[in-house]
Amino acid sequence: MGVDSTIGMLRIARSHQTSTPLTAGLTQSLPFSDAVFDCLSDITVVQHIPYELQPKALEEMVRVLRPGGRMILLELIRGQGSHIFPRAPLEWIREVEACGTTLIKCFGEEFFFLDRLFVRLVQTFSGRGGNHVDRVQSSQPGATSEEQSLTRRAYWQLRRITVLFSAWTEPVVASICPVSTATHAVFVFKKHSK
Ligand SMILES: C[S@@+](CC[C@H](N)C(=O)[O-])C[C@H]1O[C@@H](n2cnc3c(N)ncnc32)[C@H](O)[C@@H]1O
Repeated sequence: MGVDSTIGMLRIARSHQTSTPLTAGLTQSLPFSDAVFDCLSDITVVQHIPYELQPKALEEMVRVLRPGGRMILLELIRGQGSHIFPRAPLEWIREVEACGTTLIKCFGEEFFFLDRLFVRLVQTFSGRGGNHVDRVQSSQPGATSEEQSLTRRAYWQLRRITVLFSAWTEPVVASICPVSTATHAVFVFKKHSK
């Protein structure tokens, strides 16, 4: 069973020819009875729910899990923006454990240090410390459209390199760096048995 709050995303999911039933709904009021799933995954969803609603969303996800069931979360642990609400790893753990679960595994995802450094440098030198990294190259006051297009192409060519290098070194980096230095973290929780 897959859930999303938007019809557009459900259509995209359907276009991938999944046979999984899909339904529209909000995480903070899931349209399911208590304790009906053995496992549940949330891939970068709760990070888009405002902080004040996150506890209710997490509580709902735990509610629909059977006792002993597993809940996998992949969420942002850093960054800022008008549509993202990340938490530090310990905060995610505290919030989900408060709903009646125990953490059984946690690891970092997307360390991408070189790529992050490149984006930060571009932001600093272009004087655009905006919310979203990609805004950096979206428009430059005073530049002709040809110059803007060249800059944009150069930016993405360089990012292709920094992303490739970051992805290539990720397994080594992930094995030596603390979770808190990643961009996202994966958490696996087990719901308490009554
Ligand atoms: C970054 S996308 C991730 C989509 C999918 N999990 C994936 O990995 O491809 C975040 C999704 O969360 C959905 N979303 C945001 N707030 C939600 C809410 N309160 N309840 C359910 N879905 C929500 C958005 O519509 C969007 O499809």
